[in-house]
Amino acid sequence: KRRPVVAIDGPAGAGKSTLAAHLARTFGFVNLETGAMYRALALKAIESDLDFDEEGPLLALVGDTRIGLEPQRDGNRVMLDGMDVSRRIRDTDVTQAASRISVHPHLRAWMVDLQRAMGSQGGVVMEGRDIGTAVFPDAEVKIFLDADPAVRGNRRYRQATPSPTITEEAILKELKERDQRDRNRAESPLRPAEDAVILDSTALTLDEVLAKAEEIV
Ligand code: C5P
Repeated sequence: KRRPVVAIDGPAGAGKSTLAAHLARTFGFVNLETGAMYRALALKAIESDLDFDEEGPLLALVGDTRIGLEPQRDGNRVMLDGMDVSRRIRDTDVTQAASRISVHPHLRAWMVDLQRAMGSQGGVVMEGRDIGTAVFPDAEVKIFLDADPAVRGNRRYRQATPSPTITEEAILKELKERDQRDRNRAESPLRPAEDAVILDSTALTLDEVLAKAEEIV
């Protein structure tokens, strides 16, 4: 029998990665950040000079791409064709590209297959946008982690490396654009699964969020 799967979904900047890493440590599970996989492919698309809005060439690229997640204590090391791209995939250009390439249905199907294979043994906390609805609809635990956009934007801003070119407004705008694209795409749009527990962190401290999620699991 498969060990449990904990699915964590929600909009950008809600704190899913922090929560997933914490739950994995607490329960002795492995955490997998599916967003990092879309980011890794987006990086390869940038390096290959592809148009993010055209699915055909992106699918051709996928055919000879290897994406790996190596779970660590506080997140994933992300491997693209044998190279560690963990830092590079957090840059703004990759973030934007990941958001755009992830609307394509066949590309998503390829990712979902890979994610199911990675989680097939269970004992995983998998985090993303469509884990509870598409990747593991039979997950034992589903948490939809939400928060007001302004709060998510502010948290992201305070985490960002200080730089004169990064403003809180710009971060909020980018975050809203990505959410809108995720919510409005035809293929597995961002929404809570019917049986997900909705956890709104707007008025909660980090410790409170972690405690509530532990209870749910
Ligand atoms: O979670 P993260 O912000 O790293 O994800 C990057 C982008 O990948 C998101 O903006 C979203 O469009 C996409 N994504 C997705 N489905 C997932 C995980 C991420 O469409 N399961």
